[in-house]
Amino acid sequence: MSLEERLVSDTIFVTRRIFDETLNYLAEHVVVEGNDTDRVLSSDELQAGAADAAGILSMVTDRIDSQLMDSCPNLKMVANFAVGFNNVDLDAASERGILVTNTPGVLTETTADFAWALLMAAARRIVEGDRLVRDGKFTAWGPRMLLGHDVHRKTLGLIGMGRIGQAVARRARGFDMDVIFYDPYPVPAEVVDKLGARSTPLEELYRTADFISVHVPLLPDTHHLLDDDAFAQIKPNAVVVNTSRGPVVDEQALVRALEAGTIAAAGIDVFEHEPQVEPGLLALDNVVLAPHIASGSHDTRLRMSMLASENLVCGLRGDRPPNLVNTEAWEQRKQ
Ligand code: DGY
Repeated sequence: MSLEERLVSDTIFVTRRIFDETLNYLAEHVVVEGNDTDRVLSSDELQAGAADAAGILSMVTDRIDSQLMDSCPNLKMVANFAVGFNNVDLDAASERGILVTNTPGVLTETTADFAWALLMAAARRIVEGDRLVRDGKFTAWGPRMLLGHDVHRKTLGLIGMGRIGQAVARRARGFDMDVIFYDPYPVPAEVVDKLGARSTPLEELYRTADFISVHVPLLPDTHHLLDDDAFAQIKPNAVVVNTSRGPVVDEQALVRALEAGTIAAAGIDVFEHEPQVEPGLLALDNVVLAPHIASGSHDTRLRMSMLASENLVCGLRGDRPPNLVNTEAWEQRKQ
């Protein structure tokens, strides 16, 4: 049997309804099965559906843990339809020689656009304004009505200066902002110079930034990075935006900070216990809430699904997928 024939006989399981274009591409290479609805499968359903699969095209809403891996004896690859992969137990995958891939690069600009959308909406109270108009309460222009915070010429503090952080920084130039950032990993000097940005310790960023936007992966070190202690250091006029992962922000601490006016406002796209939202947040006007849609443009979601599929086909064919995140699993295969 040739490699291509072997690949064609592989079954892959797609966990949610995606795009026809992507499914057509996949069907040229593998047997495609999956969930054709938009409902998140329970772990039992996922285990049953993916039981024979050689590959899983998974979403951030799927828990890909050791139990699932053990119930899929043919599993060779998990292609996550996201840049983040905290929903996949990477150690468990590596131990079993299962390759895991993500979709970096293709969603950078779209996510940066959305971080800015949240920043502007929270700073200029756009959602509150929309509600007021819809509620028929716009009776007259008012000199003190819904006053917000200027964005231009203020200081933007980025926590995390990877691809998305850099894309957010590029946009800040149009607003004539000072850009400071904190990143525990080195950022090339030429990148920093080109952005006109300056690296600062986290405490200084908290003390000086008027806008803080979070762009770090969820890791043990970044869990609850923004907690009561962090909010206490942030300026009272500051707006905090999170498009990274919910648990990076202690949601209850955020509610306390917004209620007490320790910070001015927030724009939140991701939640600590997604899709549940801390009830305290729902009661507040000074937070703009979005349902994890920062990468959600037509073009970008299609690009993400194509990239996840290309990774899957590549890995199942026996080649190293371009966006492999657990390189150790690949090294083991070669031994
Ligand atoms: C990602 O790619 O990690 C996003 O959060 C899902 O769109």
